[in-house]
Amino acid sequence: MDAILVTGGGEINGKIPIAGAKNACLTLMPATLLSEEPLTLTNAPRLSDIKTMTTLLESLGSEVSTMQDGKVLTMSSNKLNNFTAAYDIVRKMRASILVLGPLLAREGQAVVSLPGGCAIGARPVDLHLMAMRALGAEIELHDGYIHAKATNGLTGANIDFPFVSVGATENALLAASLAKGTTILKNAAREPEIVDLVQCLISMGAKIEGEGTSSITIQGVDRLHGATHRVVTDRIELGTYMLAPAFTGGEIECLGGKIELLTAFCEKLDECGIIVEQTKTGIRVKRSDAGLKAINVKTEPFPGFPTDLQAQMMALLCTATGKSILEEKIFENRFMHAPELSRMGAKISVNGGTAIVLGVDRLKGAPVMATDLRASVSLILAGLAAEGETLINRVYHLDRGYERVEEKLQNCGAKIERIRGR
Ligand code: EPZ
Repeated sequence: MDAILVTGGGEINGKIPIAGAKNACLTLMPATLLSEEPLTLTNAPRLSDIKTMTTLLESLGSEVSTMQDGKVLTMSSNKLNNFTAAYDIVRKMRASILVLGPLLAREGQAVVSLPGGCAIGARPVDLHLMAMRALGAEIELHDGYIHAKATNGLTGANIDFPFVSVGATENALLAASLAKGTTILKNAAREPEIVDLVQCLISMGAKIEGEGTSSITIQGVDRLHGATHRVVTDRIELGTYMLAPAFTGGEIECLGGKIELLTAFCEKLDECGIIVEQTKTGIRVKRSDAGLKAINVKTEPFPGFPTDLQAQMMALLCTATGKSILEEKIFENRFMHAPELSRMGAKISVNGGTAIVLGVDRLKGAPVMATDLRASVSLILAGLAAEGETLINRVYHLDRGYERVEEKLQNCGAKIERIRGR
C-alpha cells in the first residue's frame, strides 16, 4: 500500500492542469449501455475509479478501448451478454449502481449488487429504487442484490424526490431516456455533472430539458445513437488545488477552471481572505497579505458549498485566525479527517454534523491515515504548510479521485513524494 510523504514549508507557484470530472465520467460511461452505437468520451480522467467502471462495463459485454494515455474512452455495447453487476466489482465503487437504470431501459432486466455503505455514511439507494419503480420496474431485494425487471420496457412517470440525490437523479435520467412517454423529475440534482450527462444524452438523441434546474423533463425515445462527448472539468479537483496557495502562500493558475462551477466555494474563499481571479486559461489564486480569517461553512447540494470540498476547507481553517464552524449536511459521517488533523496539532471539536475549528499558528507534521478520498487530499494540503514531515498512509483512496497528485504539486514547488508499497 503506497504512502505519500510531504515536507512542509515553501510556497506553491505555477500552473496546475485540471482533469475531466470523475463524478461526471462515472455517470457518462454507463450511458453506453443505452445505445448499440459507440460512445466516445474525451477529456476523461486517468483514475482507478474509471478503471473499475471499465471492468464493470466489460463484464456486461461492452467493449472499452482507450487512447491518448486514457484521456479518450470509446465504448461499444452492441452485444451485451450479461445483466449482473457483481458484488466484487460494486463493493469497490458505489457508482456501479448507475448501470441499473440503463440496463433496465435497454434490456428490461438488471441484477445489481447493493453497494453497501462506505466510510462517509450508510449511502442507501432507496431513491434509486423509488425512481425505477416509478418508471414501471419490478424490484426485489435478496441475497444482497437488486433484482429488477421491466419486461414490457419502462414507462414515463412523475418522480418527486423527497430530497436531492445526485446518483438517483442520474439513474432516473439514464432510464427515462428510453422509457415510453414523458418523465418529469422534481427536486432533481442541479450539479454540473448532471448538466454534463444531459448534454451527452441529448447528443445521443435524447429529448431532455431543464437540466441545471430542480425540474427536468425527459421525452422518452425509441433508441439512442452514438456520440462523442467531452467530460466537463472536475470542479472538486479544481477547488482542491485552488486551496493549495492558501495554505502555503504563492500563486497558482488552475488551467481549465471556471468560477461558475464553484460560485459558492469561491464566495467562501473571498470571505476567508483568498484572492480568486478568472483568467482566459483558468482560475488564478493567491492568499491576501492579511492572512486567513475564520469563516462558517455549511455543505449543501449544488449550487451550495460542495460536501466534497468540506474536508479540504476544514484543513485550511485549522490555521485561520479565529473560530470557524463547519456543518456537514449531506453525509452523516464525513469528519474522519478531523482526528487526523488533530494529530497535526489542529484544534477541532466535532459534535454530530457540526465541527468547530479554533485556528492555531501552524500545524506540525505527523504520520496520518487517509480514511476516504477527499480526507486524503485534505491531509496532503495540511502537510504542505505544516512544520516538518507528514506521512499520509493508505493513499489508494487518493488514486480513486486525483490524477497524479504528487506530480501536479511537485511541478509547483511542493516537497512531496510517493513511497511505494508501505
Ligand atoms: C455523489 O454521490 C458523488 N459521487 C459524491 O462524491 C458526492 O459527495 C455526492 O454525490 C453529493 O454531491 C459520484 O458522483 C460518483 P447523493 P451520491 O445521492 O450520488 C442520501 C466523491 O468524493 N441518499 O447525492 O451517492 C446519501 O446517503 C464522492 O467524489 C439516500 O438516502 O450522493 C447522502 O446522505 C463522495 N438514498 C445524500 O442522500 C438514496 O437513494 C446525498 O447523496 C441516495 C442518496
